[in-house]
Amino acid sequence: MNNIILIGFMGVGKGTLARALVKKSDYFAIDTDDLIESIENRKIKKIFKKEGETYFRNLEKKCALWLENSVSNTIISTGGGFYKQENIHNIGKVIYLKSSFEGILNRINSSSNAKAKLRKRPLLKNLKEAKEIYDLRVKEYEKVADIIVDVENRKIEDIVRDILGKI
Ligand code: S3P
Repeated sequence: MNNIILIGFMGVGKGTLARALVKKSDYFAIDTDDLIESIENRKIKKIFKKEGETYFRNLEKKCALWLENSVSNTIISTGGGFYKQENIHNIGKVIYLKSSFEGILNRINSSSNAKAKLRKRPLLKNLKEAKEIYDLRVKEYEKVADIIVDVENRKIEDIVRDILGKI
């Protein structure tokens, strides 16, 4: 296997970090949300709206099984709920990207496409509810993680160096 799985809350920077890691290593990269959109040929937002969250979670499960059986030497960035997959440790080493809720909102809001980032994430639509999901998940992310990396207010180069030193 030899995969690295990046988990963490929506907007924490899993995809951005996966791309930066690839540039500095021999790993390939793949994103579970991208995989799902490609299987379904429609956006996550549409899938949530038309089919509901349970349907989406089943697609994540399908994805997790495929990753376990078919993917190696890859940095896998995941949707914020992917950490629940039972076989996650059979896929690879799990790294939790840790940040406060405020830090995540600041990161999203300071990006040039902040509106699009918020729009494409159904579970970020209501910030009060998003904070509740965050509070529930923080402990679970930490429990699932093999490695915890603090990413708040840190330069991407430093995080990349940190992760490559730990794996
Ligand atoms: C989700 C996070 C999203 C996406 C879906 C559900 C979640 O991915 O998978 O909207 O449950 O946290 P990002 O973490 O890339 O935003």
